[in-house]
Amino acid sequence: MKLLRRTILALTATSLAVPLALAQPAPKLKVGLMLPYTGTYAALGNAIENGFRLYVAEQGGKLGGRELEYFKVDDESSPPKATDNVNKLIKRDQVDVLIGTVHSGVAMAMAKAAKDSGTLLIVPNAGAGAITGAMCAPNIFRSSFTMWQSAYAMGDVAAKKGHKTAVTITWKYAAGEESVGGFKEAFEKAGGKVVKQLTLPFPNEEFQALLTEIAATKPDAVYTFFAGAGAVKFVKDYAASGLKKSIPLYGAGFLTDGTLEAQGAAAEGLSTTLHYADNLETKRDRDFRLAYAKSYKLQPDVYAVQGYDAAQMLGIGLNAVKGDVSKKAEFAAALEKARIDSPRGTFTISKSHNPVQDIYLRQVTGKENTFAGVATKALADPGRGCKM
Ligand code: BEZ
Repeated sequence: MKLLRRTILALTATSLAVPLALAQPAPKLKVGLMLPYTGTYAALGNAIENGFRLYVAEQGGKLGGRELEYFKVDDESSPPKATDNVNKLIKRDQVDVLIGTVHSGVAMAMAKAAKDSGTLLIVPNAGAGAITGAMCAPNIFRSSFTMWQSAYAMGDVAAKKGHKTAVTITWKYAAGEESVGGFKEAFEKAGGKVVKQLTLPFPNEEFQALLTEIAATKPDAVYTFFAGAGAVKFVKDYAASGLKKSIPLYGAGFLTDGTLEAQGAAAEGLSTTLHYADNLETKRDRDFRLAYAKSYKLQPDVYAVQGYDAAQMLGIGLNAVKGDVSKKAEFAAALEKARIDSPRGTFTISKSHNPVQDIYLRQVTGKENTFAGVATKALADPGRGCKM
């Protein structure tokens, strides 16, 4: 009897132990969100986080079978603080994946830290070419764009409109300089000439003296990169100075994305190029816009799309490795062959890990960046300097 009792107990213990061990949930995936939550790019950071969380919610709160735990740092769009900030996430919080950021100078510090530590990084905005160029790495991906992509497309558009001369105006840091570089490359290849390149330090919004210089130079067109609160101020100042009536203003689409409510009539009619527009009229985009508006009581913009797609890319990679982020080569291989079903339209990931995507021409009508055609189809950044 005793023996029988012992056998039953032992059998019960083993049969319980196995399912109990199997039932252990995988530990939560630690996601480090390093984004600007204050300053001129605060709205962009919030939209990225909203988009990211929306995709995760649509998957039932899990990616690759793992629940997510968030760790957040406000990077303030401050390059001098960037290395300390990213190390809070890598060293203190020991995150599995970094998502960030908006400002190119900050993102380059993140890319260096990600490369040195081997931490997975998905950049949901910052467009500096180096991130998927000279600094490219198997563990670094971008869900957004390079500055060159939208700018090059606009250089072509401006030349085709018959403009012969242009002045450029932007903030003096990687994003602005590379945006102007992309515009100039295409505009001059098509026979135009950039006659003056005006800059001011980031995030300065004192545009008056530079607007006076544009008026005196009298170019056929002006090309600009500004974003966030700076873009709101620039578009309003350009209209208030009277220049909007005499010299057409073109921009990379950041000039009018997420900003139209605040820019009002000053933005009406502006033409820009970007990988998103407000009325793409696809089922995928309509569903996304509806879900975003329902969740946040806000209209989405390009930044929300990029956040959403950062989560989507993370999910694709994690599914391929069954939630095990240490399998970096398999994670990368899955993304390199993926077709990402984005609200912006389907895109693929280049060898250097940047989206290959359509760039749209848009025109502001009321509160929307209205689709006005495909400026360049499936545009791939050249990924200059990337050796992987
Ligand atoms: C950048 O710094 O790369 C950037 C910031 C805002 C919008 C687009 C690009």
